[in-house]
Amino acid sequence: MKDKKAITEIICKIERLKKEKDALILAHNYQPLEIHSVADLTGDSLQLAEQAAQAGAKMIVMCGVKFMGETVKLLNPDAKVLLSHQNAGCPMADMITGEQLREFKAQYPNNAVVCYVNSTVEVKAESDICCTSSNAVRVLQSIPEDKTILFVPDQNLGSYAAEKSNRKVVTWQGYCSIHQIITVEDVKIAREKYPDYTIVVHPECTPDVVKLADLAASTKGMADYVEQNDKVILGTEVGLYELMKSRFPEKKVLPLSEKAICPDMKRSSLPLLLEVLETESNEIIIDKDIAERALKPIAKMLEI
Ligand code: 13P
Ligand code: SF4
Repeated sequence: MKDKKAITEIICKIERLKKEKDALILAHNYQPLEIHSVADLTGDSLQLAEQAAQAGAKMIVMCGVKFMGETVKLLNPDAKVLLSHQNAGCPMADMITGEQLREFKAQYPNNAVVCYVNSTVEVKAESDICCTSSNAVRVLQSIPEDKTILFVPDQNLGSYAAEKSNRKVVTWQGYCSIHQIITVEDVKIAREKYPDYTIVVHPECTPDVVKLADLAASTKGMADYVEQNDKVILGTEVGLYELMKSRFPEKKVLPLSEKAICPDMKRSSLPLLLEVLETESNEIIIDKDIAERALKPIAKMLEI
């Protein structure tokens, strides 16, 4: 880590470049705190998509992972969209390809495909409607009951939303290996040690973990819960816990597992962000035909 003076200089340069280039910095809730210190807009995947839709900036730097940058680009085709790190991906998003989804669809006549926003543009282009962790239940409820709903790629969010919406869903067998780290044992130990705390977990956790927790919510839902309550244990990537500690230092907040660290979300840093702004590197480019098709399920989601 650089010394305080060097960090202040980097922040000043970033702020100057933001003005000069009409650039907006978006940061996902899991991003390192130093990134949050220069971000213009922050939030969960749905908030970022909604904010991106209204951004109207010439340049947008997405501090997060690739699918988030792609969503921003789809919603802002005329803006130059840059990703905070060229290799920041989401392994779960890569667990199904467009080709595999076409084969999956062929097995189920009269289907409706719901893709989690954590998916590639090729998969979105093959889907009917997109969803995020905060609107998955509503999205499933919007689909006619006679359809066979195919949910890709996250089996955990898919089964959580299926149960809550009372819909029959066939899920792809994808998962987030970071949320998989959080175990039933972690919940049991936390309950015993902190009986008066509320345990809130992300729906990407396994169904067993979600069942034992008090609540399941997106990272925005979790942040709202912390804002309105005290004594909360967060079952998700540790970045959210760090963000909550910095926003509400007086509150008692704990991580359910300190091991749940998403390396892709941690690739961003202030020096790299400055470099990206200076060199305008890591630009997100999407094939025009794919972009047209991939935008449709996102636009449909935003209508709900
Ligand atoms: P949220 O939309 O809840 O922020 O989740 C995104 C994500 O990647 C969770 O792992
Ligand atoms: Fe993907 Fe999991 Fe990282 Fe979220 S935490 S970006 S789902 S790998």
